[in-house]
Amino acid sequence: MARLREQRHELRAGIVGEAGAARQRALGKRTARERLELLLDEDSFLEVDMYRRRPGGPHTDGVVAGSGTIDGRQVYVYAQDFTISGGSLGEAHASKIHKVMDLALSTGSPIIGLNDSGGARIQEGVMALNGYGGIFRRQVESSGVIPQISVVLGPCAGGAAYSPALADFTFMVRDVAKMYLTGPEVVASVTGEQVSHDELGGADVHGQRSGVATFIHDDEESCLADVRYLVSLLPRNNLQPPPSSGPCGATTDDRPLLADIVPAESNKPYDMRDVIAEVVDDAEFLELHAGWAANVICALARIDGEVVGVVGNQPIAFAGVLDSAASQKAARFVRLCDAFGIPLVTLVDVPGFLPGTDQEHGGAIRHGAKLLYAYCEATVPRVQVTLRKAYGGAYIVMDSRSIGTDLSFAWPTNEIAVMGAEGAVNIIHRKRVAAAADPQALRAELVAEYRDELMHPYYAAERGLVDDVIDPAQTRAVLARALLSLRDKRRTLPQRKHGNVPL
Ligand code: HXC
Repeated sequence: MARLREQRHELRAGIVGEAGAARQRALGKRTARERLELLLDEDSFLEVDMYRRRPGGPHTDGVVAGSGTIDGRQVYVYAQDFTISGGSLGEAHASKIHKVMDLALSTGSPIIGLNDSGGARIQEGVMALNGYGGIFRRQVESSGVIPQISVVLGPCAGGAAYSPALADFTFMVRDVAKMYLTGPEVVASVTGEQVSHDELGGADVHGQRSGVATFIHDDEESCLADVRYLVSLLPRNNLQPPPSSGPCGATTDDRPLLADIVPAESNKPYDMRDVIAEVVDDAEFLELHAGWAANVICALARIDGEVVGVVGNQPIAFAGVLDSAASQKAARFVRLCDAFGIPLVTLVDVPGFLPGTDQEHGGAIRHGAKLLYAYCEATVPRVQVTLRKAYGGAYIVMDSRSIGTDLSFAWPTNEIAVMGAEGAVNIIHRKRVAAAADPQALRAELVAEYRDELMHPYYAAERGLVDDVIDPAQTRAVLARALLSLRDKRRTLPQRKHGNVPL
């Protein structure tokens, strides 16, 4: 026992190494073990393969792996240790990651990877590449079965970047995290372009431009705290419900402020996050991709204690239009919620799709189809609330009755139509207006007529496309009741190998 104790003490100390730890700190980083301490409940970590190494190499082989709990719920983890061979991935290192991934899948537990690595261990050649392939294959097998969280806390270069890309959630920390397929040196030699590590693949690039990162943080502490928060909103696996915090009176909770937040004029901006804060419990929600495609909001929250996924158009960003990036962002979120049994709440206020050659040539049709596809195949409870307007194709895509929403509500001010009144009159009454003695007056008359006839929620409600027209103040209560009524929803799609989602 004395020998075991001494050996383990030496191993732990030796693995981190004071010089290595100091180097991490100088870079604003923590060691792998310190990170796991921040992430997991105290004294819950159960390490595996601490003795594992390549022949003659250091123990752990540059990755600390095992399991632990977050708020008492079991998770599997691995943390790459940059102080050993730059956290590079060789055969032993990879097989440790494979082991915890296999245990996570067979026990139905989330897997969290903390990445800090120089990539494939160059000295181990193709065996390192083989190790990466094994991680990717396991990630795909686990997709939609257990939540996969990837936290980038250092370099993550080359093919290694595909691991965060395949995960359900990717966190990055400013200044320390870098992710790219080829680094600045390769970029310079191939294209002649001079670019820094940060400009090429820093946290802000992936949080705002590429959409690769889901969450961006300024430091490791707040990042790992948010990983814990995220885990508290997720089920352990696709066969279990997300954790409930119990009813909190939402079914009778009036929110008069809602009518003030949303201006009646349909083109006046407001922040959809203020609406979300009013309808969810404790005004608390976790926004995914907050800095990317801001014209649509995707957030996890609770309503009456139950986890929901909220999709909302954002009128303060490009007037809340749908474009390629917004469609991709929302589509992936809808699929995530559907895979993990999280009901969907869609808050609609959308003027349409963004017009332009940029969008059309960039495949806006293909990307919009992703969102349509994602909603159409989602079998979780789905509730839609139209706040102000929903026009044309965007009306259909934002979880309309026609594509399968379970319950649809509308505020009395709303306009659901093929297009705005002026545009509609210009097309359907062009000849009549042109031939009129006073075209201006006739146009105004026809616009008013179109508005009265078609542009109010009762037109849709009379035809069963909207289930009720509600007082905005009751939105939270109505959502809580609707979700309660749909809790045991079961819907199965026809048997097939898999659909062919327009990727
Ligand atoms: C072996 C590596 C390594 C690697 C770093 N080290 N990367 N050892 N294989 N890939 C070692 C260094 O030799 C050094 O060892 C220690 O880690 C720290 O590295 P430094 O360079 O001193 O650190 P730093 O200056 O902070 O630079 C970090 C770095 C840089 C930017 C990550 O090390 C780097 O560019 N590494 C190579 C990255 C790379 O090209 N990887 C392969 C990508 S291809 P000592 O003993 O001196 O402390 C790939 C394919 C995957 O990953 C494909 C999957 C399908």
